[in-house]
Amino acid sequence: MSQCPVHQEAEPQAAFPIARQCPFLPPREYRAFQQHDGPSKVHMWDGKEAWLFTRYDDVRAVLADNRFSGDPSTPGFPSLSAARNAVLELEPAFIRMDPPQHGHFRRMLTKEFMVKKVSAMRPMIESIFNRLVDELLAKGPPANLVEDLFLPLTSEVIAWLLDVPREDHAFFQEQSRLKVLLDVGPEVPREASERILGYLDTLITAREQDAEKRDDLLSRLIVEQVRPGHLSHRELVIMAELLLMAGHETTANQMALGVYSFLTNPDQLARLRAEPALLRNAVEEMLRFHTIVHYNAFRVAREDVEVAGQLIRAGEGVIALISAANHDPQAFAEPDRFDITRKAGHHVAFSYGVHQCLGQPLARTELQVVFGALFERLPQLRFAVPVDEVCSKGDHFVQGLQTLPVTW
Ligand code: HEM
Repeated sequence: MSQCPVHQEAEPQAAFPIARQCPFLPPREYRAFQQHDGPSKVHMWDGKEAWLFTRYDDVRAVLADNRFSGDPSTPGFPSLSAARNAVLELEPAFIRMDPPQHGHFRRMLTKEFMVKKVSAMRPMIESIFNRLVDELLAKGPPANLVEDLFLPLTSEVIAWLLDVPREDHAFFQEQSRLKVLLDVGPEVPREASERILGYLDTLITAREQDAEKRDDLLSRLIVEQVRPGHLSHRELVIMAELLLMAGHETTANQMALGVYSFLTNPDQLARLRAEPALLRNAVEEMLRFHTIVHYNAFRVAREDVEVAGQLIRAGEGVIALISAANHDPQAFAEPDRFDITRKAGHHVAFSYGVHQCLGQPLARTELQVVFGALFERLPQLRFAVPVDEVCSKGDHFVQGLQTLPVTW
């Protein structure tokens, strides 16, 4: 039993993950959890229990507290599914490491994703976007915006940064898609990851021959980190995989869901058209509303920790649900309403604490480029199928749309 003087040990209340009633909103149960103080206990598919945090303040408190480990090899780390375990058992990138090891790797990349550096990429992003829209217009409607615009755009941007050949984009898009599936056998994400690591190993081995003559992110890391011995070849391969995967699938999904939100909320689209200065707000609201990386923040207590009046014992698993936090009425009034005029900048869609998304300036810039121009370039944009046939990806690790069939 809990030693906490304030709260009784909660009984398990639900199995996690909890299915969504509406594919575009968090499950209603999260709101019920938010009504009582402290976390709730949930049971996982493997029969183990974890503490579920759903309130905005509590989620941030957990994510800011380094007594909780994000390293899945720590005993007690909660398991989402067998497929997810298979991914987490692979050699870890720094996203799965704790301080101080985590900071050692992350610091090598900080300058690459600083706002100033990313701002300089904006013309490149705009030119890729405009070329892809020109191609769409030349081909004519209908189109699937996920495959015909957003995945190519975000893949080209990350591939430009890493200087990955264009002809390989379809390959790494497909491997990224397979790696985040949750309801498949463990071999599916494991083999996808092995294929992409093998690919990057070959690419980086070749790059090591002439890195000094090149000016891409991988070459800079070879010169500045690998050559002096701060980073091994293998560690660079794993870091490159993280960037490649995190850098395109996420943002493309966010774009698709953003379009969905505008087409299903025409008043908000009219508002954006009338007041383009709302663009930045609109992007933050999209990030908050959909919180596409909704299952990211699994942790385990490395020592006894009290959060929100609840004693979490060393070795107990914790889930700090950013998707619930971003729909907590205490932090966002009428949270289930998509409202581009709200000040949503304090959302936690990029997580919080040491693992807060490194690529967020890049993601924001890409989203601002797309939503600053898409509805101007395709002013008649609308769904090409009845709205209830637009399918969400369901409970994938990263939320998105299966396809986004549109016409104009
Ligand atoms: C809308 C787009 C994006 C969203 C919603 C998003 C969300 C997130 C979230 C929630 C985390 C924390 C994961 C965790 O705690 O386990 C994260 C981490 C990370 N993201 Fe993003 N991300 C996006 C785009 C990007 C892009 C474009 C990049 C560029 C390469 C990127 C690179 C990373 C990296 C490297 C980490 C690990 C940070 C660390 O552990 O220190 N992300 N992202």
